[in-house]
Amino acid sequence: MALPITEADVLGALRPIVDPDFGKSIVDLGFVKSLRIEGGRVAFAIELTTPACPVKAEFEKAARERVSALPGVESVDVTMTANTRGRAAVPATGPESEILPGVRNTIAVASGKGGVGKSTTAVNLALALRETGASVGILDADVYGPSLQLLLGVNARPQTIERKILPNEAYGMKTMTMGFFVNESSPVIWRGPMVHGLISQFLKDVEWGTLDYLVIDLPPGTGDAALTLTQMAPLSGAVIVTTANDLSLIDARKGLKMFEKVSVPVLGIIENMSYFTPPDLPDRKYYIFGRGGGERTAKELSVEFLGEVPIDPRVVEGGDVGRPILVHAPDSDAARAFRKLAGTIARKLAVLATDTPPLADASIEWVS
Ligand SMILES: Nc1ncnc2c1ncn2[C@@H]1O[C@H](COP(=O)(O)OP(=O)(O)O)[C@@H](O)[C@H]1O
Ligand SMILES: [Mg+2]
Repeated sequence: MALPITEADVLGALRPIVDPDFGKSIVDLGFVKSLRIEGGRVAFAIELTTPACPVKAEFEKAARERVSALPGVESVDVTMTANTRGRAAVPATGPESEILPGVRNTIAVASGKGGVGKSTTAVNLALALRETGASVGILDADVYGPSLQLLLGVNARPQTIERKILPNEAYGMKTMTMGFFVNESSPVIWRGPMVHGLISQFLKDVEWGTLDYLVIDLPPGTGDAALTLTQMAPLSGAVIVTTANDLSLIDARKGLKMFEKVSVPVLGIIENMSYFTPPDLPDRKYYIFGRGGGERTAKELSVEFLGEVPIDPRVVEGGDVGRPILVHAPDSDAARAFRKLAGTIARKLAVLATDTPPLADASIEWVS
């Protein structure tokens, strides 16, 4: 008669699986949860630090194969779950409790100037995170040029309940923009103190609820609104969007300084509209604005280069009808690029937040 399978056998089989971000075994990291062994049937969950983990499928496959190979194992049931790491629970009282208390990660999307695709990037990164099952919100803090209402195709005036503003829903995300309140044809001219008030309302009076990620589309540059936001919001990290021909290192440096001042880590630089692939020449990449601009900028500034997003006319087409490329052309290279970037960003945030213990405590059940 074969010896019964033990917890130690299963954990031993899983131990060689290493999380590349933490450089440690998934067993030692406490990712293996709810282990149950009933005769030859083994079931367990692997709890990742973000649902957007790009190596999710690899972990699942490796775990299944390794445990299946144990003598006596008849079936293996692996459940992939996530407990998104992020900011520690905010105290119920005090100044911190007012600002985004239920938001675990706040990502600022910034750029030196307008027109580089900052809003497009913010929306598609948010959607990519949402696709993985994360709870996501997106705040358009570009009060001078709000565009979220157009990009997502929602423009109902948000409801107010007991002095709280309820965000609109779009594609399963909570959304807020000045564009919900102003007429498209009326120019938006806000003066400094008004901007401060608006941003403050967006952060304090909007009912964001519990979110894994809040993506914030910052106004371009380092003006009033951007400064107010970076000073007020508990930002987990920032990404800077550029184009290959936007080689304004001065602007990029200013942006970095702005985040440095408030101790917000800059996760890296994204180069948008990098190259064009004609539909009839699918393996060509034409770097219309020159190659490697974003990467060079990143090097000069000693920040990471996160990746390129190609030019795709469907980005514009979809943007005009409230269908971001992730929805409009989900299999396009541009959509894939945004998904990959979202995964990278989510992982970086999870690593940054490892000092914060996960909310649920690690427990392993063993049923013989
Ligand atoms: N990867 C892309 N391919 C094609 N067009 C793009 C791409 N990214 C952005 N655009 C287009 O460029 C214009 C500016 O983008 P937007 O996101 O509004 O920039 P920003 O917020 O930086 O001002 C929009 O018309 C948008 O559709
Ligand atoms: Mg914009």
